[in-house]
Amino acid sequence: MTGKRLILMGPPGGGKGTQAKLLKDAYGIIQLSTGDMLRAAVAAGTELGKQAKEIMDAGHLVSDEIMVGMISERLDQPDCANGFILDGFPRTVAQAESLAAMLQDKGVELDSVIEIRVPDQNLVDRITGRFTCSKCGEGYHDTFKLPKVADTCDACGSSEFTRRDDDNAETVKSRLKAYHGQTAPLLPFYESKGLLAVVDGDQDMSAVTTEIKRVLDS
Ligand code: AP5
Ligand code: MG
Repeated sequence: MTGKRLILMGPPGGGKGTQAKLLKDAYGIIQLSTGDMLRAAVAAGTELGKQAKEIMDAGHLVSDEIMVGMISERLDQPDCANGFILDGFPRTVAQAESLAAMLQDKGVELDSVIEIRVPDQNLVDRITGRFTCSKCGEGYHDTFKLPKVADTCDACGSSEFTRRDDDNAETVKSRLKAYHGQTAPLLPFYESKGLLAVVDGDQDMSAVTTEIKRVLDS
């Protein structure tokens, strides 16, 4: 089934990126990760990347103006027409309001907002153990998901991996604070619109995917 438009919400390390990558292939839709877009800007050394790096490394949120501009431009691209998974956006009430206006302008509606719920105490391990293939972006974990052949990406065979600068126990505390203070208040907003579904993110990755697919297909 294609054509879905959804938001994946959840705390840092909750599994938004992991699930988005599995769902995009299953539903033939694209993943729009604002964190990945910002990291690409940092890697490219653009002015935006330079501004964003300091904020991201501190675990704070980049300004609504920048983020709304970024997503608005991206949603206008033809590859979004068949559906998309928003991963990491919206993160504030202002971003959610801007998104609603953007979608209304385009005459499209969200199908679902999925909260991947994971207790805070499990997130530090998830985040500090994470690494990613430098070539194709496939995600791994020191304990929960190692490559099948040591030091070789399952997806593309590359042997180069990276760890994020913001993936340390200190920054996680600020990121969690931002999540609970600024992003979690969006959950009742989407619940009141009848769009919110809560999925237990504290189980195997494949079990989480099954639960999300059940929501999307119902
Ligand atoms: P962003 O990149 O969005 O980071 P985040 O929200 O902190 O979320 P993460 O990417 O850390 O976690 P995830 O939920 O994707 O988890 P993952 O699947 O990788 O944002 C980074 C920064 O950019 C922000 O702090 C902010 O500064 C800025 N930013 C971005 N968007 C913004 C916006 N809209 N407004 C303002 N600022 C913005 O999983 C984590 C690990 O756990 C992996 O290793 C994975 O293998 C493992 N794992 C996943 N699922 C499971 C499972 N079920 N069981 C065991 N392990 C699992
Ligand atoms: Mg992510």
